[in-house]
Amino acid sequence: MSNRTLILTDTLYDYVLGHSLREHPAQAALRAATRGHERASMQISPEQGQFMALLVKLMGARNAIEVGVFTGYSALSVALALPPEGRLVACDISDEYTSVARPFWQQAGVADKIDLRLAPAQDTLQSLLNDGEAGLYDFAFIDADKVGYDGYYEACLQLLRPGGLIVLDNTLRDGRVAMRAEDPDTAALQALNIKLREDLRVDLSMLPISDGVTLARKR
Ligand SMILES: C[S@@+](CC[C@H](N)C(=O)[O-])C[C@H]1O[C@@H](n2cnc3c(N)ncnc32)[C@H](O)[C@@H]1O
Repeated sequence: MSNRTLILTDTLYDYVLGHSLREHPAQAALRAATRGHERASMQISPEQGQFMALLVKLMGARNAIEVGVFTGYSALSVALALPPEGRLVACDISDEYTSVARPFWQQAGVADKIDLRLAPAQDTLQSLLNDGEAGLYDFAFIDADKVGYDGYYEACLQLLRPGGLIVLDNTLRDGRVAMRAEDPDTAALQALNIKLREDLRVDLSMLPISDGVTLARKR
């Protein structure tokens, strides 16, 4: 027995998926459609999607933000968990990546909940703030360019209501955050992790699941 997180062998990972994963057929189909993509590793894992969906349901979230859509798996997971009147503002800059998503969002019956904005995410978040939407959102998922994370975090913190949750992906960056930073992305996450540790505006948990998932609840 150990009180540290288990090392996840392939056998144990298969067990976890085999004993907990519940995907909508559109989610499974979207994963299959992305599998051959040269950037397929950018997609979140299915168990992370299911975990985020559970968080969305636990919170009773209605209004959500996503920064970094790619082919749409995390957006699909969150949108499926939102109530029928729920809305997800999904930010990305790539028409090529996000065009893969729409048929699967439609297959799952959630396309109308997803408001895809193709523009630099910081501009989209600022436009939401300019439109007077500060404090109106319940949930935000940040999974785009790492040097942009701090700006996305600050904007999302304004857009969230007290008690709202920001989920930040890749905060362990394949373990590289614990080593000397060799690239700007790792350095950006190291700086953000230090900032979050001291940020009394949020309650915090850094989870060593997937590539590191940090939960920050706005106080
Ligand atoms: C790691 S992928 C997102 C994966 C996605 N969450 C999923 O589950 O499949 C990162 C995405 O961020 C987008 N991106 C990169 N820079 C961006 C920016 N400045 N503004 C908005 N999106 C950006 C990329 O086009 C890419 O689709």
